Parts: sequence; C-alpha cells; structure tokens
Amino acid sequence: MSIFLGIDVGGSGIKGAPVDLETGELVGERLRIPTPAKSTPANVAAVVKEIIEAFEPVIGDAPVGLTIPAPVVHGVVTFIANLDQKWAGVNADKFFEEKLGRKISLVNDADAAGLAEVHFGAAKGNDGLVILTTLGTGIGSAIIHRGVLIPNAELGHLELDGHDAESRAASSIKDKEDLSYKKWATERLQPYYSHVEMLFSPDLFVVGGGVSKDWDKFGPLLELNTPIVPATMRNRAGIVGAALFAKDSVEHPDPLVEHAV
Ligand code: BGC
Repeated sequence: MSIFLGIDVGGSGIKGAPVDLETGELVGERLRIPTPAKSTPANVAAVVKEIIEAFEPVIGDAPVGLTIPAPVVHGVVTFIANLDQKWAGVNADKFFEEKLGRKISLVNDADAAGLAEVHFGAAKGNDGLVILTTLGTGIGSAIIHRGVLIPNAELGHLELDGHDAESRAASSIKDKEDLSYKKWATERLQPYYSHVEMLFSPDLFVVGGGVSKDWDKFGPLLELNTPIVPATMRNRAGIVGAALFAKDSVEHPDPLVEHAV
C-alpha cells in the first residue's frame, strides 16, 4: 500500500486525511478544522501541525502534500488572490519544513484537483489534453496532457471583456450578484469556456468546485465543441491530489526548490 497524507487548505476549512494511492480512497475519516480568520502562513501552519499529529501513526515520516489557492513555483507562492496576502513571496516548502520538521510539498489547489480527476475521477484514462476548472470563490485551473500536469496555469485570471475572468464567472459571483443558473451559464460561463476552448483546443473539460454538484442546472446549457463533464471526486479532490503530489515529490524531487527565492 502506498499511503500519503493530503491536506487541502480552503477559505473556510483545512481538511486532511491519509490517502491510499492505489485506490484513491481516504484511509479513515478526514479531519476538518476551520481556517483561522487571519489565514497567515504561521496560523495555517499551526492547523496543519495539528492535522499531521492526528495522522502520524498512519503516515510515519513520509512527506505531506498541501494545497494552496495560489500558484506555487518551485515551492514559492508567487501571488495570492483569496487568502492572506502574507503568503505572497513566501518560500512555503522551506517555511513549513522549518516550522513542522518534516517535508511538506505545496501544490496549487486546482492542480491537485486536476491530478485527482485524471488518476481516479472524471478524466481517468483520458490520454489527451484535459483542462479542469474549479468554480468557487475564484476560478482555478489545471492543464494535464497525457497524464502529465503542466503546473500553475492561472486560467481563472484570463482577461475577458476587460475583466479578470474569475471576477465575472466564479460561482461566488453568481451568489453575490444573485444570478440564476441560466443567466450565469449563458452570460458568464459560456464566453469563458468558449475563450479557453479557442486558446487550447482541449480534448476534455472537467468542472469541479462545490457548485459542480448542481451540474444539471448549468452544465447542459453550455454549447462547446469540447466534451465538458462534472468532476466526480467532489470534496476528496484536493486531499487526494495533495497526496498524489507528495508521492510525486519523493519520486521526482524538484531540484530548483532549494534555490528558489
Ligand atoms: C488563484 C488560483 C486558484 C484559484 C482557485 C485563483 O484566484 O489565483 O491559484 O487555483 O483561485 O482557488
């Protein structure tokens, strides 16, 4: 068995569980702790420590995977839209290692979800170009070609009609502006996915994020040439993807992490 701990850092909760990477199943119950109101690196590290301690007997000293809603370039968080700004510029891999005394591998939240969907979920077995988007507070994206992740795509921040795309099409905006599913799908999501389709010609779109549970209300309204399907890993995606990333960091250590500034 190959078991790694995945931890998913979201705006409202930090969730973790050991994952059996042969099946993609969680090993036991996941632990969820509310995200501290001030979600600084130090405050998040304290919660991560608690989660690691709870699962230590199962995971031993293996590296831990941790998602973050931001691009992570060789361990460094380059910019952050939806968590405390203190994260920007932090060499998070080094920071966590110093604070927690074990190897932590940070991965962008949407990249983690994309990895999980390609290994175990809606894109399993797809050998082409898969683009996963997560619709939530922001829009996350993952580009995966023949099972290999091209990290840190920030397609949620594409400029569309003069706006940052996620500020028009994220599901948080649907809620904030009280848009119906139909209005949101036809006026916000349609131009967004048409634009991404034109730029990348993917073989498959996968749509994740909490709102994907209501897929039937908006998915069928989208008119695209590319097949588009809802994610199937649901709230396991971040945890499983983080665990996959931790395993990958053992098999393919990033030689640039040590030198990143
Ligand atoms: C961030 C991405 C993240 C997405 C979803 C965006 O605002 O820039 O890195 O994946 O939100 O959390």
